[in-house]
Amino acid sequence: MSNADLQARKVKAIARGQGNAYPVYVERAKNAEIWDVEGKRYIDFGTGIAVCNTGHSHPKVVEAVKAQLDNFSHTCVMVNPYESAVELAEKLTNIAPGDSDKKAIFVTTGAEAVENCVKIARAYTGRRGVIAFNGGFHGRTNLTMALTGKISPYKHQFGPFAGDIYHAPFPIAMHDISVKDSLKAIENLFKVDIAPCDVAAIIVEPVQGEGGFYAAPAEFLQALRQLCDQHGIVLIMDEIQTGFGRTGKMFSCMHAEVEPDLITMAKGIAGGFPLAAVVGKSEIMDAPLPGGLGGTYGGSPVGCVAALAVLDVMAEENLVQRAVQIGATFNEQLTALQQQYPQLIGEVRNQGAMIAMELIVDGDPHQPNSALTQAIIAQAAEHGLVLLACGFYGNVIRFLPALTISDEVMLEGLQKFTQLFTQLAEA
Ligand SMILES: Cc1ncc(COP(=O)(O)O)c(C=O)c1O
Repeated sequence: MSNADLQARKVKAIARGQGNAYPVYVERAKNAEIWDVEGKRYIDFGTGIAVCNTGHSHPKVVEAVKAQLDNFSHTCVMVNPYESAVELAEKLTNIAPGDSDKKAIFVTTGAEAVENCVKIARAYTGRRGVIAFNGGFHGRTNLTMALTGKISPYKHQFGPFAGDIYHAPFPIAMHDISVKDSLKAIENLFKVDIAPCDVAAIIVEPVQGEGGFYAAPAEFLQALRQLCDQHGIVLIMDEIQTGFGRTGKMFSCMHAEVEPDLITMAKGIAGGFPLAAVVGKSEIMDAPLPGGLGGTYGGSPVGCVAALAVLDVMAEENLVQRAVQIGATFNEQLTALQQQYPQLIGEVRNQGAMIAMELIVDGDPHQPNSALTQAIIAQAAEHGLVLLACGFYGNVIRFLPALTISDEVMLEGLQKFTQLFTQLAEA
C-alpha cells in the first residue's frame, strides 16, 4: 500500500475537517525518526504536535504500558481506582510550580483540561467571566473555541460560542505590542465589558503555541499574578504545549517564577497516550462537588503508567536540561541562516526546545510570508523532514524535536532544513 493509495482512501473516509499535514502514512516510529509505509525515513521535528517529548516508543514507556495491559485496561478511576492514578497525582502535585498544597484531576484531552479549569474557577469564585488572549489556542470544544483567540480555522462556522469570554492583546515585541499595551487593554475590559469582581479567571499560555511561539515576558506573567491577587481572580496557566520539560524548565511559568492557581497538563505528559490533567491549589480544586469533574476515561490506567514512566525517563535522562541544549543548537544554526536571509527571516526565537522561525517579506516584520512557509512545509516530506507551521498568518515554522533526540539526528535534520530553505529562498 502506498502513501498515495492511503491518502485517497483517507479523503473518502475521513471528513476534511480532520485534515493531515502530510500525506505520509506511518508504519513505525522510534525516538526522533519515522518510517512510512513505503520505507522512507523522516526526521521528526513535530513529535505529533509536542507530544512525544520522550521520543516515539521509549522502551520504558512501552514496557510500562505492556505490563499494565496484562493486568487490566479500564475500570474507570471514578468507580474502582488504582494506585498508579494516586501515585501520578502525588508526583504531578509535587512537580507543579509553587509551594502551595495542591491536588489534581485527570481527564483525556487538553481541551477537556482547559474546560475543567474554567469549571473549577467558576465554582470557586461564584463568578462568570474569563479573560483570554488574542492568538491564544485552548482547544476545539465549544468553551475552548470561545477562549481561543484565532478565527480561522478554529472558530469560523462554529458559533454561537459560550458567553462571558473576553480577549485582550498578548504582548509580542516583534509586532509592537508591549506588556503595557496588554495590561492597559485588560484595565479597559474592566471599565467597558466586565467588572473585575465578575471575572472568575484569566487564562494564558506562557508561550503561545498555535499562535506563533511567542513567549510572554516574565514581567507580564508577574503582572497577571498581581492583578489576579488584587481582584480575587483565578490565574490559569495553559501549559499543554509548553509543559513537561519542553521549554527548559518542567513548566514554562517557572522561568518567570510565577505560581498559577491552576495549571493544565496534556500532550508530553504520557509519551503519546491520551491523558491530561489539571493541577491546582487544593482549596480551589476542591470547590466542585463530588461527581462534578472527571469522565469515563479520565486517568486511564494505561495513560497513568505511561506518565509515571515518562517522569522517570525525564529524570534519568536529564531531559529538562537537554531541552536547553537542543534550543541553543537550533537557535545558533537558524540564526546563521537568518544572517544569510534577513529579508526573509524576521526572527528566530526559542524558549528551550520550543523553537520558531518567523518568515517575512522584504525584511518587513509586519508582512507575513505565508507562501514561503507553506512551500517549506509542503516540501519538507520530500526532504525526509516533518515540520509544522503556526502563527496568525501561518508564517511561523515551529521546531519541536523529541528531547531524547541524538545530536547526530538533530544535526542531520537541521542540515536538511537548511538545504530546503536555501533551495526555496533562492528559487
Ligand atoms: C496550549 C494548548 N491548549 C490546549 C490545547 C488542546 O489540546 P487537545 O488538542 O489535546 O484538546 C492545545 C493543543 O494544541 C494547546 O497547544
